Amino acid sequence: MKLKITPTQQEVLLDDDEIIISKTDLAGRITYVNRSFMRVANFAESEVLGVQHNIVRHPDMPRGAFKLLWDTLKQEREFFGYVKNITSQGHYYWVFANVTPDRDASGNHIGYFSVRSKPSKEAVATMQAIYQEMLGVESRTNTANAAAASIEYLQSKLKNLDTTYDRFILSLNERSGS
Ligand SMILES: Cc1cc2nc3c(=O)[nH]c(=O)nc-3n(C[C@H](O)[C@H](O)[C@H](O)COP(=O)(O)O)c2cc1C
Repeated sequence: MKLKITPTQQEVLLDDDEIIISKTDLAGRITYVNRSFMRVANFAESEVLGVQHNIVRHPDMPRGAFKLLWDTLKQEREFFGYVKNITSQGHYYWVFANVTPDRDASGNHIGYFSVRSKPSKEAVATMQAIYQEMLGVESRTNTANAAAASIEYLQSKLKNLDTTYDRFILSLNERSGS
């Protein structure tokens, strides 16, 4: 069962060269976390193994962001995205995430692998504004259709900018690297 954590306004920053890694099974239950995950999210390994990855889900994240993640993974494509997560104390941390399939030695698809690094302030500011707009769309839509509605909103916004989700997200990350 998901713990009810009350969000605070305190940010936890990743170190510049810090990489947070976790692995899940096919249903999104955590099977591995590295030390950086434990440090930043402030969970002990025993508290997260076997638990759904939504244990670090922050309420400021729109449902659409995660529907996009799972839709992309189900199409056997890798996912890139900016994510605001919650720590066990309710603090928040932003990451730039890359999620890919995890395979065993025989090549069988056994789950997913997420590698996250510190995003730039500019990229976070851009994505925070977009997620707020998506949350607004979701709050005006019935729960069953909320995620699809906010994705539609995001896609039309990106179309107006003459770009696609992957191109937009990767360009935010490239700009931050310079
Ligand atoms: C490998 C992997 C890593 C994930 N990492 C996160 C994460 O860091 N934060 C998060 O909120 N959800 C993450 N998710 C998505 C969660 O499984 C879940 O879809 C999301 O938290 C929304 O949960 P909810 O539908 O219960 O609100 C990840 C999923 C996978 C497969």
